[in-house]
Amino acid sequence: MKVISTVAELRSTIGDLRRQGRTIGLVPTMGALHAGHLSLIEKARTDCDIVVTSIFVNPTQFNNPEDLRTYPRTVEADCASLEKSGVDFAFIPTVEEMYPEPDTRQFNLGPVAEVMEGPMRPGHFNGVAQVVSKLFSFVNPHKAYFGEKDYQQIAVIRRMVEIEGFDIEIVACPIVREPDGLAMSSRNVRLTPDQRAIAPSIHRVLIQSLEQARGQSVAEVESFVTRAINSIDGLEVEYFTIVDSLSMQPLTQWADAKSGTAVGCVTVYCGEVRLIDNITYAL
Ligand code: PAF
Repeated sequence: MKVISTVAELRSTIGDLRRQGRTIGLVPTMGALHAGHLSLIEKARTDCDIVVTSIFVNPTQFNNPEDLRTYPRTVEADCASLEKSGVDFAFIPTVEEMYPEPDTRQFNLGPVAEVMEGPMRPGHFNGVAQVVSKLFSFVNPHKAYFGEKDYQQIAVIRRMVEIEGFDIEIVACPIVREPDGLAMSSRNVRLTPDQRAIAPSIHRVLIQSLEQARGQSVAEVESFVTRAINSIDGLEVEYFTIVDSLSMQPLTQWADAKSGTAVGCVTVYCGEVRLIDNITYAL
């Protein structure tokens, strides 16, 4: 595996490989890699000739400075796991390399970004669009891989691809879970042992809601999930919203899901740690 830290070297190296007819897969990450990231890399390896993984904790997508400061940074261990996973290139730029000047672009992300994480984390999705669009233009991959834990982020990235006219396939990969059901996340390392013990309840309640969804209304299921999670000491729901799986628009009735699938997206505070998860309701 070769580590690249400049945009110029990244562009020319990957550009040459593309011109030679190799297919390029990109897995953007913020590091602190876990099995969820490795599953994206594994999928990219089976689909593409060359896999590029970026590690960059992108300041423009953090609306909370404390979250940016405490975001886990484990570059050495990350490089070792990328090497083992058969990644060809690790792109690890500095903030100055990615943002030689402030990025003032405002993306018109529209309705997919106006719900859930949109209002809860002002500026977050614009920051994601800024960094991912930069990575896309530097690497120009055929395919890019994202995890479904950040379900709404995938919809936002698809919208950014549409706006910018990138010819890149966005590949959504399933959530990878710990054996007890907790969705893998770089933020899980910040949980204390007591918090770690209760965090899997989030997924347990979401699974229970599948049963509820068979006979109950959207509002009833939303209320069930919110109450059940809040009843666990140490967990506090920020929002649980059931949306159409493509438009991200909140549903009032199951039948309103034009895509034919609804997704319940939840954000839960476990102490200071903000955990997110989701569940799909096949209608
Ligand atoms: O999902 C993430 O880790 C980040 O939002 C991403 C897509 C790497 C952009 O910084």
